Amino acid sequence: MTIDISQYSLAKALHMLGVTLWIGGVAFVTFILIPAIQKMDSIKDQYSFFEKIEHRFAWQSRFTTLLTGLSGIYLVDLLDIWDRFQYFEFWWMHAMVLIWVLFSLMLFLFEPFFLHKYFLSLVQTQPKRLMAKVYYLHLFLIIMSLITILGAMIGTH
Ligand code: HEM
Repeated sequence: MTIDISQYSLAKALHMLGVTLWIGGVAFVTFILIPAIQKMDSIKDQYSFFEKIEHRFAWQSRFTTLLTGLSGIYLVDLLDIWDRFQYFEFWWMHAMVLIWVLFSLMLFLFEPFFLHKYFLSLVQTQPKRLMAKVYYLHLFLIIMSLITILGAMIGTH
């Protein structure tokens, strides 16, 4: 099997660029932005402020999710490593796809069509619980993502 090194390098570089912007942004939102917003005096304003910033980030995430997914599938095809999905030792390959599917569902389906309306209804009734829910959702996603990145880095090297 011969692999065009320049195609491989470019795809890998784009994959890492996507992962960095995307997961780095999720880490910032989880560990810096949400805890800072939760300290705001007006609990009802917390969610609207969060939404304004998250709205911009959601567009960046949609783009970086696509970039990461497309470059990832291209890499699997280029390296012809589809069979890795049959073996448990390559759990981090499954984890990458799982994280990607989870985020894609959130960004392209759940958030715009369901979660946005659901969260807006909670702003009126349970604003404090709403921000806690938003925080734990992000915490879950970032922990899964970081485990995946660690597994992929150890697995590939
Ligand atoms: C559809 C989704 C994805 C596919 C098909 C995919 C596929 C791949 C492939 C084929 C490689 C190269 C493996 C090798 O060189 O042996 C790779 C590397 C990697 N991917 Fe993904 N990936 C996806 C999503 C993700 C996500 C969501 C993350 C982060 C949470 C991620 C993080 C990484 C990391 C850290 C590496 C290791 C880079 C290195 O060599 O140092 N990938 N991915």
